[in-house]
Amino acid sequence: MKIEQLIRPELTNLKPYKVYDFPHKIKMDANENPYEMPQNIREAIADEIFRHSFNRYPDPIATDLRKALASEFDVDPDLIVIGNGSDELINYLISAFAGIDAKVIFPIPTFSIYGICSELWGTNISAIPLSENFDIQTEKIISEMKSAKKSIVFIGYPNNPTGNCFSYQSIMDIINCNANSIIVIDEAYAEFSGKSFLPLLNEHENLVIFRTFSKAYGLAGLRVGYMIAGKEIINQILKVKMVFNINSLSQKIALILLRYKNQMSDLIQRIIKERERLSNMLDNISWIKRYHSDANFILFRTEYDSENVFDKLLSKGILVRAFNEKGLLKNCLRVTVGKPEENDLFISALES
Ligand SMILES: Cc1ncc(COP(=O)(O)O)c(C=O)c1O
Repeated sequence: MKIEQLIRPELTNLKPYKVYDFPHKIKMDANENPYEMPQNIREAIADEIFRHSFNRYPDPIATDLRKALASEFDVDPDLIVIGNGSDELINYLISAFAGIDAKVIFPIPTFSIYGICSELWGTNISAIPLSENFDIQTEKIISEMKSAKKSIVFIGYPNNPTGNCFSYQSIMDIINCNANSIIVIDEAYAEFSGKSFLPLLNEHENLVIFRTFSKAYGLAGLRVGYMIAGKEIINQILKVKMVFNINSLSQKIALILLRYKNQMSDLIQRIIKERERLSNMLDNISWIKRYHSDANFILFRTEYDSENVFDKLLSKGILVRAFNEKGLLKNCLRVTVGKPEENDLFISALES
């Protein structure tokens, strides 16, 4: 008997997701917040750690954190579910609403986890390429939605790795197209774009908004994401949610960060300002075409082989993300906006 033959057939060709750890000095590859947590917030966290009841199971529904988020967004706390990162919520949503008779639809290139979770659950995937200028092909998506018995549509807003927010009207057309579909607007980078579909939540019971503490709030290591959706969707998600999915310390630390929201907003503004400065600097390099970003990372295309550029940057200690596939992302690289001095070093490494 081979263990391989015992696995669910739909998983046979799935490969474990690999995160490569290249030795580097400056990390600009994973869309993280480049700033270390400020000292005063660290002290509040240290104080929490000192008092924390590590011996107790966490609050399974993260009551305090949901309440704080609810007042932040002026929604009912019962419309929020907290996840171990939004990755976990993507998986929950697909496990609850997809399956063999459904389709998961998304534009590509986009965040890879939508596809990976779909494969996990044996769901059909419909990946619709973006247009040349990285906008969404609305008609094609709507036609896929209408031809499916039921579907989930994932839209990154801003999209990763292209960095842009698709046109508002395209997304409205998708939301209003009257198919048997759940529409997820993944707003992982919303704090950097200032754009959101949250105000539409009341009017559309099939709309889901994903947010995360991993990017703007600099908590990628603690894994706190959340979804906001109508009561009916939330009720179904609660059936598949692991009871103690979000650990007690992460719940508390996310709450502390919300308390220091204004201070975090200053850091976010600094990153947005740096995004603009970095964009201008990239525009001054003749062999680079830079794409518009609404996020904390920038996609650019080079006249050279992207792997080569990646290797040269890495030899100078700078880690970015390279895309070497053919088609829309050919010879593209993605750089996360760093601190001013990191961005300067990145640009001078590129220039040299
Ligand atoms: C569009 C998008 N959604 C979700 C995530 C994952 O967020 P989390 O850290 O909350 O799992 C990422 C991370 O890169 C992302 O780019």
